[in-house]
Amino acid sequence: MATKNELFAAARRAMAASRSPYSKLKVGAALRTKDGKVYTGCNIETASFGLTLCAERVAVFSALASGAGKFAEIAIVSSAEEPITPCGACRQVLWEFCGDIKVSVYNRKGKHRSFRLSQLLPHPFDKF
Ligand code: THU
Repeated sequence: MATKNELFAAARRAMAASRSPYSKLKVGAALRTKDGKVYTGCNIETASFGLTLCAERVAVFSALASGAGKFAEIAIVSSAEEPITPCGACRQVLWEFCGDIKVSVYNRKGKHRSFRLSQLLPHPFDKF
């Protein structure tokens, strides 16, 4: 079962695999299921910039591809000075597949803030 700091550590380990030669921003994400499993992702950039995938979506899709279901929390860490929050596209994907999870954002040293996803994405587009 992953504790809070273990989730941060998993996100930071995932960040090491970041492929970000264009932006130079390394991002890692670790997604914890309600039964304590952890799935990770990092941002992957391509020379055709628009094909870039954010760390959060890589983590969500990896978890789903592994058959994971109910999610509790995502930790996001980046190489930036201040903790970064997920982009709009990732917020929408997180909402669809994870619901109103806890979102904890960290800088590399562990400085962090926590939100509910509904604080970051009020009035989301929902399943219809
Ligand atoms: N990025 C993420 O991986 N997650 C975010 O929440 C924001 C942005 C990535 C995408 C791109 O590789 C780099 O950070 C700069 O935008």
